[in-house]
Parts: sequence; C-alpha cells; structure tokens
Amino acid sequence: MVYRALVGDAAWFPEAIEGQLVTLRKHVPENVGAFQRWYSDPEVARLARYQDGPMRADEIDRFFQLRALGHESLTMAIHQRTTGRLIGSCAFSQVDGENGSAMFHITIGEKDSWGRGFGTEATRLMLDHAFGTLGLHRVALTVFEFNERAIRAYRRCGFVVEGRARESIWREGRWWDELAMSVIASEWRGRGARVAPRALPKVPAEPVAG
Ligand SMILES: CC(C)(COP(=O)(O)OP(=O)(O)OC[C@H]1O[C@@H](n2cnc3c(N)ncnc32)[C@H](O)[C@@H]1OP(=O)(O)O)[C@@H](O)C(=O)NCCC(=O)NCCS
Repeated sequence: MVYRALVGDAAWFPEAIEGQLVTLRKHVPENVGAFQRWYSDPEVARLARYQDGPMRADEIDRFFQLRALGHESLTMAIHQRTTGRLIGSCAFSQVDGENGSAMFHITIGEKDSWGRGFGTEATRLMLDHAFGTLGLHRVALTVFEFNERAIRAYRRCGFVVEGRARESIWREGRWWDELAMSVIASEWRGRGARVAPRALPKVPAEPVAG
C-alpha cells in the first residue's frame, strides 16, 4: 500500500504553533541576522555540524534562504512565548509523502536559552504537527553521541535509538558514534501524544527582543 500523508494541505505549513513556553512561527527575512550569529558560533557547530567548525557567512546566508525561507522543508522559528524573543529554529526536511516520513532538526541558537525546556517543547509541538496534522508515520533524526542535552530532550519526546554509525565523528581527539533516533506515530499516540512530565524551569522575565 502506498502511504500518502496530507502534504499539500493548507495546514501543512501553519502560520504559528502555540505552546506553553514557545511559539513556533514562520521565518521572516529579518531572521537572517540571528542565523548568522547562531551558526557562526563554534559551540553550536561542535554540537550540530559534521565539519568541525562553523559555516562561513555566505554559507549561512544560503542555508537560511534555502532552509528557513524555502519551501522544500517545513522550518519554523522558535520564539520564547512570554517575550516573543527569537531563540532558535526547527525543521522537517526530506518530507516523504509516499512513505510518511520526515527528518527532524532543531537548533536553539541563543545559548542562554539552553536547558530551560524550550527545545523539548518545540520538538513536541513539531511531533504533534507531524502526527496529528500532517498524518506522518515516522519522524527520524541523527545526533552525535556526545550531545547529551539533545539526546535527553529527544528521548523525553519519545524518540528511541534505532541505530548508530559507529565512530563516524572525529571531535576533540577521538571518535564518536552518530546515533539514529526515530519515533513512530503509533508510539506517539500510545503515550497519549505527550512528553514525559518534567518540572518546568522558572523562566525569569526578560525584555522583549527588538
Ligand atoms: C539540543 C537542544 C535543541 C535542546 O533544547 P534545550 O531547550 O536546550 O533542552 P531542554 O531544556 O528542553 O532539555 C534538555 C534536557 O537535557 C538535560 N540537560 C541540560 N543541560 C545538560 C547538559 N549540559 N548535559 C546533559 N544534559 C543536560 C536537561 O535536564 C533536559 O533533560 P530532562 O528533561 O530529562 O531533565 C538545544 O540545546 C540546542 O539547540 N543545542 C545546540 C544545537 C544542537 O545541539 N542541536 C541538536 C543537534 S542534533
């Protein structure tokens, strides 16, 4: 049987998805400045990039135009809900309507926003969208084994490790595995389409980013 997800439907690319901690919104061209800052940061590159070092400015610009503004992937900006501050970006790429699958990517580029529950909630909102609205069957991702924060956030949303590319990443003088993780629609429904409960961190009041 050929599987067909609802891609092409009006709900495929929503204007916004509202959570408790974050709001996901379509990217706007002005977000390129934030992309330039995030992706030129060596620490972000270390965690998320195959090459050991950040992208050049022209590569970031191309990446932003293609990934954030283009229509080949479903990419949403992550805004802190209380302040509206732009803190990151998340995306489905390789959306395959025949087989009902997509690859998930996320970067919280504002490092002072790491570890405060934003990434977990953004991931959950994207999974809700994938399974609840798009009718996808499977969402997959890859992550370096040293990226414990990411792995914990993904596990909390229901991703399980399904494989590993052994010793495929050279970082800080040693080899690391790259993990393949996925979550299937039936598992997502089976857990009541919810993330495992977690005490939400207190979010201090912040000025609205200009
Ligand atoms: C990975 C990322 C999206 C996670 O989002 P986040 O908002 O920082 O993470 P959350 O606060 O939602 O959850 C982090 C989890 O890791 C834990 N954690 C936080 N800091 C940690 C650390 N230094 N080491 C290990 N675990 C850590 C938290 O306790 C939490 O787990 P828990 O819910 O089981 O308690 C974000 O940190 C990020 O974008 N990092 C840089 C780019 C990146 O790594 N992208 C992913 C590439 S695959």
